[in-house]
Amino acid sequence: MAYTRLSDANEITERYMDSILIEERLIDSVKADISTTLFGESFSMPVLTPAFSHLKSFNGRELSGLEEYSLAAKESNILNFCGMMENDMFQKIIDTGAKTVRIVKPYADNGKVRDQFQFAEEAGAFGIGMDIDHIFGPDGYDVVIGEEMAPQTSDMLRSYVESTKLPFIVKGVLSVQDALKCAEIGAKGIIVSHHHGRLPYAVPPMMILPDIKEALKDKDITIIVDCGIASGADVYKALALGADAAAVGRSMMPSLEKDGTPGVVKFLEGIGSELRYIMSNTGFSKVSDIDDSALYEY
Ligand SMILES: Cc1cc2nc3c(=O)[nH]c(=O)nc-3n(C[C@H](O)[C@H](O)[C@H](O)COP(=O)(O)O)c2cc1C
Repeated sequence: MAYTRLSDANEITERYMDSILIEERLIDSVKADISTTLFGESFSMPVLTPAFSHLKSFNGRELSGLEEYSLAAKESNILNFCGMMENDMFQKIIDTGAKTVRIVKPYADNGKVRDQFQFAEEAGAFGIGMDIDHIFGPDGYDVVIGEEMAPQTSDMLRSYVESTKLPFIVKGVLSVQDALKCAEIGAKGIIVSHHHGRLPYAVPPMMILPDIKEALKDKDITIIVDCGIASGADVYKALALGADAAAVGRSMMPSLEKDGTPGVVKFLEGIGSELRYIMSNTGFSKVSDIDDSALYEY
């Protein structure tokens, strides 16, 4: 019989999420309200777009996929994220009017890091941050499309936080140790993520979420989770396990490629409807009320 080793963190994550089940609590329950507040601003739901990069325009349409999903974030009134890009592309995303957090790569050229943060702030970004899980690569430090990455110390991260008035969000936190360091340096948010499986056997973000939540319980820090979020049920589980919001990622790609902005708006509506349905069925009428008491593992 063939023997397959399960080293793919995406597969492990999916299996873990599917092993979490939900009980029903119908009596005295009412239709839930999925609106939420993140970083002091109101949004239609605790669902975010992913920090994506390098999306071309699809099906001959004029705008790049990055602009199309940003427009969908604006129309849906959710918080938007974007990843590695030059300043001219970031300006186009800001021009969509979406409230956007710019996640900057840990470039070895620290002047570029600081320039991109400063540009983002001056252009009107909602927040800035860095994906610290893209530091290392197979040959030591990673090289992404010809650009070298470099290690980031607590002091460097603290200096980014201190250089801005915007919320600073660290993306790629997958341990209590890093989560506590983020709190210490004054980050306003973390994204619990394995960046679509960069680390073999990475612990599923939702598995480590309760430990991170517990460690940060007295800190003013927003906890976001991503990796494998593809439905309202996934968002519900993330919130129940301690996240304040969850980011969809590759699951939105088919809608984005096929139908652009309207496709993503519809996809997000579906996620929101399922989240509302499950909250209503489990007796949680508000996002802030959700806890893990309706979850089972099998
Ligand atoms: C095409 C593509 C580009 C991405 N670019 C970035 C990036 O520039 N910066 C970043 O922090 N994450 C980037 N990511 C990672 C996503 O933000 C996210 O962490 C990852 O896809 C896991 O979520 P998912 O399983 O829902 O896709 C990228 C992912 C994809 C698929």
